[in-house]
Amino acid sequence: EDPALLAAFEARVANDEFIEPKDWMPEAYRRTLTRQISQHAHSEIVGMLPEGNWLTRAPSLKRKAILLAKIQDEGGHGLYLYCAAETLGTSREQMIEALHAGKAKYSTIFNYPTLNWADIGAIGWLVDGAAIMNQVPLQRTSYGPYARAMVRVCKEESFHQRQGYDLLLEMMKGTPEQRAMVQDAMNRWWWPSLMMFGPPDDNSPNSAQSIRWRIKRETNDELRQKFVDATVPQAELLGITVPDPDLQWNEERGHYDFGAIDWNEFYAVVRGEGPVARERMKARRAAWDEGAWVREAAAAWEARQAARRAA
Ligand code: 3HC
Repeated sequence: EDPALLAAFEARVANDEFIEPKDWMPEAYRRTLTRQISQHAHSEIVGMLPEGNWLTRAPSLKRKAILLAKIQDEGGHGLYLYCAAETLGTSREQMIEALHAGKAKYSTIFNYPTLNWADIGAIGWLVDGAAIMNQVPLQRTSYGPYARAMVRVCKEESFHQRQGYDLLLEMMKGTPEQRAMVQDAMNRWWWPSLMMFGPPDDNSPNSAQSIRWRIKRETNDELRQKFVDATVPQAELLGITVPDPDLQWNEERGHYDFGAIDWNEFYAVVRGEGPVARERMKARRAAWDEGAWVREAAAAWEARQAARRAA
């Protein structure tokens, strides 16, 4: 690449300017953003599946309406993010094909099953809570369309996190069985939520470049630590324990020390060995095939409109 163009690009990024679709950018910048934004979009869309599983089983109309609104938001986040990724030159079809062919990733967290209603609360509180921690800095990511998409997404994630916490608070006021369900959900969702922030900084191949080009504003471990520090007091307020015997407040550091994450489990789930990974992909392929008529009808309608405009 032309060194003068690269130097000008890096000066703009270092100056906290937004890079826009028509601006010159290094191919590696385009590639890593297409990778990250499309995988973020896949995560949003696949993330609708575990929650959809409980829509018809919600315990009240109020909870059903809230869950429906959240799932609808996730779908919207996915479409926002696919649009942002398309501005980098990759088509929607190419991105979906990469997901279905197992070439593109989605967040490991969605390869865990939702066994009961408390899981829906744990997903809102922990998974969307982790998502907020990871996505607030992305509102200042150097690629304009991605940063702007994150502003709307973060507002909605806050509602997702609060409704999940409220759901668990209500269950903690319930019977001993309901309280036990909340603790069980915490035990199953805590560690996979920490894995959402990605591998440790000393084993994060994309981080150095992403930090240099201000795609990533904070590292995987920094955001994970922020999440632990913010979430442990919330668990205490709920009256449940964090399933980590090594968790301990470290006055000197001003942070919680916490136990080792099982990175073997993480990489196994990334490789698609997660408990329900095959089910998720089967459901996504079926949705894509069964939804073809909607895409065709929309395209036919658009073609008719265009013909009318041209006439
Ligand atoms: N699940 C699956 N793959 C993961 C992962 C996870 N939890 N964490 C990391 N990986 C993958 C990376 O994608 C990368 O693989 P690739 O090069 O093939 O893409 C590899 O592991 C090495 O990780 P790196 O740390 O080097 O990769 P990144 O610098 O991209 O950091 C990330 C990973 C922090 C997830 C970053 O990509 C990111 O911030 N992405 C945007 C946010 C996002 O995607 N969040 C998904 C959560 S779901 C969500 O937010 C929906 C909400 O509604 C709950």
